[in-house]
Amino acid sequence: MNPTPQVLPKDRRDLGGPRQPLLIVRDLKKHFPLKKTGFGLRRERLAVRAVDGVSFEILKGETLGVVGESGCGKSTTARLLMQLTAQDSGELVFDGQALGAGLSLREYRRQTQMVFQDSYSSLNPRMTIEDSIAFGPTVHGVSRREALARAHDLLARVGLEPARFAGRYPHELSGGQRQRVNIARALALEPRLIILDESVSALDKSVEAQVLNLLQDLKQDFGLTYLFISHDLGVVRYVSDRVLVMYLGEVVEVGEAEALFERPLHPYTEALLRSMPSTDPLKRTEQAPLAGDPPNPIDPPSGCRFHTRCAYAQPVCAERAPRFHEALPGHAVACLRHEPESGYDRRLIPVQEVAHV
Ligand SMILES: Nc1ncnc2c1ncn2[C@@H]1O[C@H](COP(=O)(O)OP(=O)(O)OP(=O)(O)O)[C@@H](O)[C@H]1O
Ligand code: SF4
Ligand SMILES: [Mg+2]
Repeated sequence: MNPTPQVLPKDRRDLGGPRQPLLIVRDLKKHFPLKKTGFGLRRERLAVRAVDGVSFEILKGETLGVVGESGCGKSTTARLLMQLTAQDSGELVFDGQALGAGLSLREYRRQTQMVFQDSYSSLNPRMTIEDSIAFGPTVHGVSRREALARAHDLLARVGLEPARFAGRYPHELSGGQRQRVNIARALALEPRLIILDESVSALDKSVEAQVLNLLQDLKQDFGLTYLFISHDLGVVRYVSDRVLVMYLGEVVEVGEAEALFERPLHPYTEALLRSMPSTDPLKRTEQAPLAGDPPNPIDPPSGCRFHTRCAYAQPVCAERAPRFHEALPGHAVACLRHEPESGYDRRLIPVQEVAHV
């Protein structure tokens, strides 16, 4: 349809105005089959249900934070959104166009970029910094001269003086500097959506704060939208407009960051937040709020997947899968306790527990 990558003018970028979805994710699934071992026929069908029917929207100009324990499917979701991993089923709709129908993979890949945790992983150790940044645009048809000029501009924009850094190799940079290069590299194709998967997690705290501030500035200047994955709930709260919580390959809660952190609806979110180290010594809990490891994603629990660890679980929770629904305006949850006529008996909960529901 539109073979030449089009640079969107700033006024068409994604900040300001009513928030519309930039990316709609519909019922995305990715199961990793286990290698065949032994003779069991059943064994051949076993799979890690890494992402198991995930639906959500990323709104134009927002930062959507993603949290959840290790192994819940955050990175697999990110890789599916980047189409680095092919989904088993499900659909992506970017700015109103379905991927594979109205929108080509090539154009989608230009508009959606990712910055990984490991600052080395996306940089070729044998390429200079300027060549690494210029590589993407040249593949997309920009002349080498123009791509290099863009690389120098971007280096300056991410706080690395081009005269000093352009000709260096990745191993000559610190982790924070390399992550700045990766950000410049992601920006080189003028994307609209950037997926940040633990992108600042490996950095020292002071460097992390600097890179977070840089990301905030770039978001404003370039009209970007972020999906921000992190295990650090404090950072997620600081950067996110809305937050999505995953548990065992499913989305269990999505809401405005402030509402979700102040008044979580899902018992898992509540437990995650209680596990955050508190700065107030009186609020520190002795007991680990989330006991045990998450269940095996090969054979998740029946009904609500969280019922084996949930402080509010009732027998119905093992039988019936909760429906993900908007329980409060702009605040969606998958929990029978918040679902009308689900068979969950709210009278059995102590009064102080329901007071805020
Ligand atoms: N290529 C793969 N092959 C088989 N299993 C995989 C593969 N990639 C991920 N998994 C499994 O899928 C599940 C989800 O993994 P994923 O990396 O998405 O979790 P995560 O939420 O990003 O965890 P972390 O917080 O540790 O980064 C895990 O059980 C993981 O072992
Ligand atoms: S459905 Fe039941 S087990 Fe699941 S989170 Fe809600 S109360 Fe807990
Ligand atoms: Mg991960």
